[in-house]
Amino acid sequence: MSSKNAILKLDDKEIVLPVIVGTEAERAVDIRKLRDETGYVTFDDGYANTGACESKVTFIDGDKGLLRYRGYSIEELAEKSTFIETAYLLIYGELPTAEQIKKFKARILDNSQIHEGLRIALSGFPSNAHPMAVLSATLNTLGCYYPELGTNERTHDLAKFDETAAVLITKVRTLAALAHRSKEGEPPVYPKPGLDYCSNFLHLLFSQPNADFTIHPEVARALDLILILHADHEQNCSTSTVRMVASGGANLFPSVSAGVCALWGPLHGGANQAVIEMLQEIHNSGDDGSKFIADAKDKTKQIRLMGFGHRVYKNYDPRAKIIKAQCDKVLKVLGINDPLLAIAMRLENAALNDPYFKERNLYPNVDFYSGIILKAIGIPTEMFTVIFAIGRMPGWISHWKEIAETPKQKIHRPRQIYVGNTERKYVPIEKRA
Ligand code: CMC
Repeated sequence: MSSKNAILKLDDKEIVLPVIVGTEAERAVDIRKLRDETGYVTFDDGYANTGACESKVTFIDGDKGLLRYRGYSIEELAEKSTFIETAYLLIYGELPTAEQIKKFKARILDNSQIHEGLRIALSGFPSNAHPMAVLSATLNTLGCYYPELGTNERTHDLAKFDETAAVLITKVRTLAALAHRSKEGEPPVYPKPGLDYCSNFLHLLFSQPNADFTIHPEVARALDLILILHADHEQNCSTSTVRMVASGGANLFPSVSAGVCALWGPLHGGANQAVIEMLQEIHNSGDDGSKFIADAKDKTKQIRLMGFGHRVYKNYDPRAKIIKAQCDKVLKVLGINDPLLAIAMRLENAALNDPYFKERNLYPNVDFYSGIILKAIGIPTEMFTVIFAIGRMPGWISHWKEIAETPKQKIHRPRQIYVGNTERKYVPIEKRA
């Protein structure tokens, strides 16, 4: 709370509204008492200008293109940290000591196998099921195998939090890989104790039983980097969903399962799949990108340049810069010359110099180049958003914890402006037109 107030004049009445200032000088007008005092609510379609909570996890300055987890810049974490260390940082608020990270890794390793019943459940999904549907369903089902971790009794669930967090971080990866293998009709392989998180994921996805699978360290590092860059992004659509579900008192399993559903849409996490499909379509049509750019500007067409634009960034998404540099590296290491990269670069160049995109501050976001790396690694397009979900898991967990630890946390329950029919009389069916 600051010493400043805002004064709102409404119906000849002056209402004094307190001003809240965050640690990075973000300012908000606190309207919590507005309805009680005046009968008015505020209206903000899509929560575009609403601070829905106070949070200590992640800071974004969209105008300057800054992103920090717990105060550490994304550039520094991308260069020096690992996904598992970053996950610890997000969840517990501090970089771990050597002893803390050892314990955290051991917990992750100990929990990496999944229950046989869950593996059988996975094999029951139709082969054309989208992996995001399977992931959401199986994350919720996972909770059924751990009734003692997800009770919906807050104090109990918080006491068990360390184990639940480790179970989710490790098993989201195992579930994703097994779902993929099951869909492909491949036999399961099991996590290898000696491998790091991402190498183990690549092993779980691609190894064949009784055959050696070589994991290129640069490829494992690229995947690790992608996970770091996706690990949190403050109050985005899926994280807000997790917080919303958590605010009703739900435990971690259903909360993150709901997060996966929210992430799936093409305007959110599904954009990485949509970008590759868009680039492939442009390539197949023989367009050099200029027709697509013209279509994306044409308001009569429902086309968007996927991987461009962001609700918060009105500047280059800092994650996109890091991913673009990594993209060049990975393709070089793997000796891949992907024509889709050339199309992406042409599109980016054209859009950045086009008044339509410039006026609207539309820049490449994290999804614009990530798909090209994932494709080079051999991840199927349908799995791209699953990779985003694996990366976002620590963020969702941190936000669930923040809600769960807030004393007297209110259930999230926005208001609306009703614009439907006013009261009318029921008409019997024989009298209806
Ligand atoms: N291509 C063409 N026009 C666009 C695009 C785009 N990618 N994005 C926004 N616009 C236009 C939009 O038509 C509107 O124009 P006008 O003012 O003339 O009506 C203006 O820019 C503002 O767009 P908006 O939809 O009101 O902006 P928003 O903040 O609600 O939406 C967004 C943000 C990310 C949903 C949107 O930019 C978009 O749909 N981008 C493509 C999908 C995408 O890449 N999503 C991934 C986001 S990053 C990963 C994540 O964190 O989820």
